[in-house]
Amino acid sequence: MEKVLSYIKDNEKRYLDELIEWLKIESISCDSTKNDETRKAGKWIADRIEKAGFENTRLIETGGHPVVYADWLHAEGKPTIMVYGHYDVQPTDPIEKWTTEPFNPTIKDGKIYGRGTSDDKGQLYTHICALEAMLKQDGKLPVNIKFFIEGEEEAGSEHSTPFVEQNKELLACDAVAVSDTAWHSKDIPTVIYALRGLCYMEFHVKGPKRDLHSGVYGGMLQNPLNAVGKLIASLQDENGVIQIPGFYDDVLPLKDEEKKEFAAIGNHDKEMMEDLGVNALWGEKGFTSLERNWGRPSMDVNGIWGGFSGEGAKTVITADGGFKVSSRLVANQNPDKIKKLFEDYINEQCPPGVTVETIYHHGGEPIMVDIDNPFLRAGQRAFEKAFGKKPTMVREGASIPITATFVKELKAAPIMVGFGLPDDNIHSNDEKLDLDNFYKGITCNALMYTEFAK
Ligand code: BES
Ligand code: MN
Ligand code: MN
Repeated sequence: MEKVLSYIKDNEKRYLDELIEWLKIESISCDSTKNDETRKAGKWIADRIEKAGFENTRLIETGGHPVVYADWLHAEGKPTIMVYGHYDVQPTDPIEKWTTEPFNPTIKDGKIYGRGTSDDKGQLYTHICALEAMLKQDGKLPVNIKFFIEGEEEAGSEHSTPFVEQNKELLACDAVAVSDTAWHSKDIPTVIYALRGLCYMEFHVKGPKRDLHSGVYGGMLQNPLNAVGKLIASLQDENGVIQIPGFYDDVLPLKDEEKKEFAAIGNHDKEMMEDLGVNALWGEKGFTSLERNWGRPSMDVNGIWGGFSGEGAKTVITADGGFKVSSRLVANQNPDKIKKLFEDYINEQCPPGVTVETIYHHGGEPIMVDIDNPFLRAGQRAFEKAFGKKPTMVREGASIPITATFVKELKAAPIMVGFGLPDDNIHSNDEKLDLDNFYKGITCNALMYTEFAK
């Protein structure tokens, strides 16, 4: 291990330079004009993994963005760990809010800024660095490794999910190492054991055939944007309770022990309000903010459009408008079931004089890993060694939908050992990764693969 750790130290600069090269590739998976770039990022990481000493490296077609597979299976009698991550990134809009160029990674104050630094290229890269160091120094690995890296996580994993379902033998493993999460705060190293699921919908509200003068026609017909407002308002009551009938039917109530566990993390509401510049936190009545984020479903409008929003005032009744809305789900909610309830409710709430059309984008089931899972414990031990502090075990409000497929199809627990920080600005402007966490993350992974072998 000594040799491995000093190899990592000696190669820090090269690791960072390589990561920068990868970050420059604009792999925005939801933007079809970037399809070539997205593929290039997949090819880049496949080549890099091969160079690190892995075998059977392949870029495999799925009908969407290709997945990357590679393996090293010579640790006889030892567990097989699948390394999962994603090479695709979120769009950069609104570009004017960035202070650095998203695809020209910039180092400032011990952090690297750019799209994909934290989510997920930078975090995923720590595994390739650690495993390379072990292969180069020891000539072998303590466990069997399979890489499975997708290029459409940020777009809903539409093709990578069926790929897992159809390639269970190729991907068979005992646990999945995932670095695609963030710590609870900068001084609380965090290992995640649960993620929420997701149900993402879009509704188009259609009224008159054409835009109308709001005086000539106002008062005589339903305004599609008034209807959008009514529909959105009908989703939650003033106590933050979601109003869709049957929505909570499958929600597992939070146990008292769980509430105690969450409370032990401490109340960070004030810091959060300050950080976000809001004058109150809000959500379902009767629950703390952490309980709401980790153990209860939530509902958020992600976008609204229609009518006139330019400078000045235009008196218009627009022909159509719409909104995108997503709901985070908890155990044992099922996205397909929620989608149906959601659609029925919106149709039922739709006022006369307009019609509504539904688009279902994607969903994902929530996951929860047994807190005593031996691989999870191994991850915890590695964290403690690398960061000099026992990590807290917490849940996460966000989602990585394909992890539920790993649980269901591969019977393998996702071990979520991430190195992001809560203010990394993922999906936002000025995304960044703390370089200290990047380098220590590499060391942590080397220790973790060693712990996995035990
Ligand atoms: N890496 C994130 C999920 C995440 C963020 C986990 C922060 C823990 C802490 C992932 O890339 C992501 O953004 N997931 C999406 C899923 C969606 C696009 C299907 C999410 O949660 O919105
Ligand atoms: Mn991610
Ligand atoms: Mn993301």
